[in-house]
Amino acid sequence: MFITKRVEFSASHACRNPRLSDRENEELFGAAANPHGHGHNYVLEVTLEGEPDPVTGMVLDLKKLKELVQDEVVEKYDHRFLNFEVPPFDHVVPTPENIAIDVWGRLKPHLAGNGVRLHGVRVYETSDLYVDYFGESA
Ligand code: NI
Repeated sequence: MFITKRVEFSASHACRNPRLSDRENEELFGAAANPHGHGHNYVLEVTLEGEPDPVTGMVLDLKKLKELVQDEVVEKYDHRFLNFEVPPFDHVVPTPENIAIDVWGRLKPHLAGNGVRLHGVRVYETSDLYVDYFGESA
């Protein structure tokens, strides 16, 4: 069975790689490379896989899941300029692809055992664009 928790956060980013020149970044990313950055209202969906506990009827205590996503992701990302305030985005371009990978890495260690497994992370950068990440083996 799969269960998904959705949260939202707002953050700014500049789509640029610090190893490239201004001109190269602009050619690659266009206006999104502007070093002053721009904001998005991101939507994050975290999906767990497991069986409902016979006593509680829950795959995982939803309060615990909410706290985990809040502590490990929302508090780190919300109202931040990702490129300057949230490693690894000082050297990794904060595309939704890389955000999904980073979120996976933040949550995965906390979701091992107890019959529950992190199944996937979905990051919406806009309402019509999202990325799914299912971990290293996918
Ligand atoms: Ni953007």
